[in-house]
Formats: sequence, C-alpha cells, structure tokens
Amino acid sequence: MFPIGIHDIALATGHYALDLEELAERHGVDPGKYTVGLGQSTQTVPATDEDIVTMAAAAAKQIMAEHDAGDIRTVLLATETGIDQSKAAAIYVQDLLGLPSSTRAVELKQACYGGTSALHFAAGLVHRDPGHKVLVLASDIAKYDLGSAGEATQGAAAVAMLVSADPAVAVLEPVSGLYTANVQDFWRPNYRSTPMVDGKLSVSLYLEAVEQVWKDYEARGGRAIQDFAAFCYHQPFTRMAYKAHARLLEVHGIDTDNARLDADLAATTVYNRLVGNSYTASLYVGLMSLLDHAEDLSGRSVGMLSYGSGCVAEFFGLSMVPGYRRRLRTSANQSAIARREPISYERYREIREFELPEDGSPKVLAVDGAGPFRLRAVAEHSRMYEACHLIQA
Ligand code: COA
Repeated sequence: MFPIGIHDIALATGHYALDLEELAERHGVDPGKYTVGLGQSTQTVPATDEDIVTMAAAAAKQIMAEHDAGDIRTVLLATETGIDQSKAAAIYVQDLLGLPSSTRAVELKQACYGGTSALHFAAGLVHRDPGHKVLVLASDIAKYDLGSAGEATQGAAAVAMLVSADPAVAVLEPVSGLYTANVQDFWRPNYRSTPMVDGKLSVSLYLEAVEQVWKDYEARGGRAIQDFAAFCYHQPFTRMAYKAHARLLEVHGIDTDNARLDADLAATTVYNRLVGNSYTASLYVGLMSLLDHAEDLSGRSVGMLSYGSGCVAEFFGLSMVPGYRRRLRTSANQSAIARREPISYERYREIREFELPEDGSPKVLAVDGAGPFRLRAVAEHSRMYEACHLIQA
C-alpha cells in the first residue's frame, strides 16, 4: 500500500495578544499560577473582523500558494466554534480560496478531537483514490466566561494540512488507539456563546483517556513506547501536556521528573504557550512547534495524542519523511505569532463585548485585523467575507 499523510502544513492565528501576567493581575491571582501552573505566557485574541473562517483561509492560503488547487477534491473543516448550525464553514473557505466547484466541503465537530477525525477521514478518501488531495482545516477560538478559571486558557489559531499519497512531511501510521465515553466535562449548548465546563473533571478525564487509548493502541499491535522519538499532546494549556506525558510514562513504569518531561516536551509547547488553547488546532500547533524546534526527526516516529471533551481520544503515530524539514514554514509560523499586536486588558474587554447582530439587521464591520481575509459584514442573517490583498499578502 502507498503511504498517506501530511504533505504540507501551515499555521495562522488572530490579530491581538493578551499578556497573561496582566490577566492574572486583573483576576487578583499570582501571575505564576498562569505562567508556571498553567504554562501560558500570552493568549491570542482575534480582531472583531476575524473568525474561524478567516483564520482557516489564512492558514490554507499558504498551502494553496504551493500546490495545484485542481488536485484538491475535499475540504474538511473541524471546529467547535461553529458560525452556523447548518452550513459548513468549509464552503466559505472553499470560496475564499477560489477552489473549483468540483470540491466536497464539509464541517466536522467533536470538541478538540475534531481535527484528528478530519485527518483520519481524509486518509480514507486518499486511500480510495490516490490522486485525491484533501485540505484539512482545524480552526477554533477558545472563549470562556469572563472571570472564570477557564479565561486564562483562552486562545485562537488555525492549522491547514494537505493530506495526500506519498506525503512530503509525515506518514500517518496505520494503528490507532481509540477511546470514547459519554461524559459532561465540557460542552456548549446551542443557546450559549461560551462553554459549560468542569475544568478539574476535564483534566482527570483527559488523563484517564491517555491510559485507555494506550491500552487500545497496544492491543492493536502499535509500536512500543520506546520507538517514539517525540510526543505531541492536545494542549488546552501547556502544563496539560506535562500531566498527560507523565501519566503515559507512569503506565509504563517509567520514572518521571520535571527535567525528563522538559526534555521530552519543551519543543512541542513553544507556540501553544503563546497562542493559548486553539481547541481542534491545538495538537497540530504542538506538532508544528515540535518540528520547528526539535532536531531532525527524519525517519523517526512522533506519538500524537488527541483528546476532545465529551469525550473522544485517539493515539496514533506519525512517521517523519526524510527531508521533511525543507517543507517547514518555520519563519512564517514564528512571525504569525510574533506580529500579533499586544493589547491592554481594557481593549480585550471591548473586543469581548463586541457582538454581531443576532436579529438579521445589517452591520458593516470596521477594519480591525490585518490578515489576508476578513469578515466584511453581516446582513440578512449571512456572513460576508472578503480578501484583503492590499492589507497583507
Ligand atoms: N505559582 C505556580 N503555580 C501555581 C501557582 C503559583 N503561584 N498557583 C497555582 N499554581 C498551580 C496549581 O498548583 C496548579 O498546578 P497543578 O495542576 O499541577 O496542581 C495549576 O497552577 C492550576 O491551578 P488550579 O488551582 O488547578 O487552577 P484553576 O482551578 O484556576 O483551574 C483549569 C485550572 C485548567 C481547571 C481551568 O483553567 C479550566 O477550567 N480551564 C478550561 C478547561 C480546560 O482547559 N481543561 C483541560 C482539559 S481538556
């Protein structure tokens, strides 16, 4: 069988950055709780004319610049920040990117696990037709109630991945460990713009899922833990990766201390520490951080652990293709994060208070962000987007 996996991968994030030391001061807590206890330094705050569509399109545009749009037959967009109950956000992205009408465009949802489901479903499509390329998009804005414990774990980002046969970056290994349980640790009823969350429960369920996916992975003939050169975890906050990795090592009777965990995980947390939680995108932001900061992993395997509250989890391996480093966008990734505009707590609160009309009344949005795409207006209950060629290439 021919190898299938990630042929290209690109990152986008929102326009503003809020310093967590400032948020800690406003919450009246020691900044160390956020910067050390949660492992977060800043969080991305999207501009008022940015959303999951503009971020996903901004990530995908970088991929489209280097590949033939005619080869892409499917766009899968995973999100838990849906903008519509019916129409797929993928259709807006397909249109903004100028992809042919002979394209399938669909949205997928299962909390922070959605991006991983899209990656595996994409592999199935490529397996059916090796000439088929799939654009997988994971795009999310993590937003919690003001003043809640979750507010320190907000963030936003989008990752675009081109999935194909004979990939240039990483081959999806055939064995997966799976785990699903009907639990209420985090969910967002249709009438709410922020989630219901039992944060402590979500941490303990995530750790339980680590054990369960590994058991299933092992039972299905997966690799031994020692075969992995690196690990990436879903990172609602970067310390969660430390907790999860410690649990995986404990399951194997491997002693852990902070130095060992740092050595194993520091490279995968660089970007997440700055953008914050990006839900479906978070695991793949962690992968990009690893690839941009680790030594050459050509021919080695990376263990990927995806967790989405509710809950579904999956463990699988990615085998790094020799020469993959030539395909990385390290400086573009770093600059997407570095060029965010720092904002004061007051400006952050203004953005939080900004609401799009919910009664169909028209609103034209002022230019706020500086990305390649923006939400221009809402009218007649519809979102209208535009490309901003003059603002940023
Ligand atoms: N310096 C260093 N560390 C400190 C500190 C300080 N001054 N004060 C507290 N801490 C540490 C705590 O010891 C704790 O570390 P530990 O988990 O290793 O014990 C950590 O900071 C967080 O403190 P805690 O009191 O548990 O935080 P919290 O009650 O405010 O909630 C979450 C943390 C993650 C539960 C909350 O942010 C949340 O609900 N987030 C959204 C849901 C989520 O992200 N879930 C993750 C799984 S999907």
